[in-house]
Amino acid sequence: MSTQSKQHALLLIGLGTRGRMWTRVIDSAPNASIAAAVDPHEPTRAEFAAAHPGVPVFATHQEALAAGLSFTAAVLVTPPDGHLEQCRNLFEAGLPILAEKPLTLVMSESVDIIRMAEEHKLALSVGLNFRYLPVHQKYRELLTSEFLGTVGFGEFIYRRHRDGRRPGINKYPLTMEQPMMLEQSIHHLDLIRYCYGREVESIMCRTWNPAWSMYADDANVHALLTLEGDVAINYFGTWSGGWNVPGFEWRTDCEGGVFVQRELFSDLAYAKTTDPELTPIALEEAEAFYDDSAALLRDFLHALDNNLPAPCDGRDHLKTLALCFAGIESSRTGKAIVLKEFYQQNQLEFLL
Ligand SMILES: NC(=O)c1ccc[n+]([C@@H]2O[C@H](COP(=O)([O-])OP(=O)(O)OC[C@H]3O[C@@H](n4cnc5c(N)ncnc54)[C@H](O)[C@@H]3O)[C@@H](O)[C@H]2O)c1
Repeated sequence: MSTQSKQHALLLIGLGTRGRMWTRVIDSAPNASIAAAVDPHEPTRAEFAAAHPGVPVFATHQEALAAGLSFTAAVLVTPPDGHLEQCRNLFEAGLPILAEKPLTLVMSESVDIIRMAEEHKLALSVGLNFRYLPVHQKYRELLTSEFLGTVGFGEFIYRRHRDGRRPGINKYPLTMEQPMMLEQSIHHLDLIRYCYGREVESIMCRTWNPAWSMYADDANVHALLTLEGDVAINYFGTWSGGWNVPGFEWRTDCEGGVFVQRELFSDLAYAKTTDPELTPIALEEAEAFYDDSAALLRDFLHALDNNLPAPCDGRDHLKTLALCFAGIESSRTGKAIVLKEFYQQNQLEFLL
């Protein structure tokens, strides 16, 4: 029947803001532990070492791979611009990878990484952890089962004044190109694909930077998406909102009523067309970033143990990444982008 869980020895690469969360997740996983960790920043290594006596810590992944230790997989939590070389070295060392999003900032590099995983026959999963939050599992179930009848259109609104200079927060979004789209909207567009269970057919998009933005490049994204089955989604996301109090709403209108997600990580409700009020939908409690990441890790390790396809795999992620880049192109050209044509123009036909 069930195969016995193996104790996975993980190589954790990157111990920054998100790496600290992965540390917590792996430390409490029943079937995995951190066998070694990597970060070039000495104080960060010292902080990790103090909490993990006996666990080797290295400044580079090359040193970790050369140390004669044995790993069953790597968890890659570094900024995306180094992922291509890191993934190449890790696959050459025979390690499956769970990598943070975005996989890369250049689409062709993501294609290279996916090809490498496939050539080496090694799992590649990407950190699409928000799919695992109970609110999104339930939203997906209700939308794909057409609980309120035919799904028609939706509006996904995310408003935040994100202080990118705050201590303890990653700093590279302040200077990177398209920080909102590639660091944040990428999660939202992924959730739209996932929860509606439909691929995006076309995108009309504008990205821009408000005059007061602390980001060097665009902190606002507005997109109109047409999904399979003529489902239309109006998306707006900002990191440079004028108010420190965040705002979120994801509403979907269906033939027989509406669903409304009223909080970023929880609070799903619905109303039938003639209901005077929304009815909350019961959801399991979950700590955002922690429980969802733990669930992704569980799935990833389960796939390794049982030789199953990797969850949230590279090809799946590339569809969301390509959507982000199609949105950026739409903004640049002022034209709607048809995804099938975009795939053909960018040698991504293998995703069709
Ligand atoms: N899925 C999620 O929910 C989620 C949440 C936050 C961040 N992220 C993603 O995680 C990644 C990391 O973000 P972060 O917030 O931790 O950034 P960060 O800047 O806080 O931390 C990055 C860490 O990587 C280290 N690093 C840099 N180059 C390295 C290398 N070559 N080898 C090893 N370590 C290296 C840095 O020293 C730093 O400690 C990003 O891609 C980000 O988008 C995902």
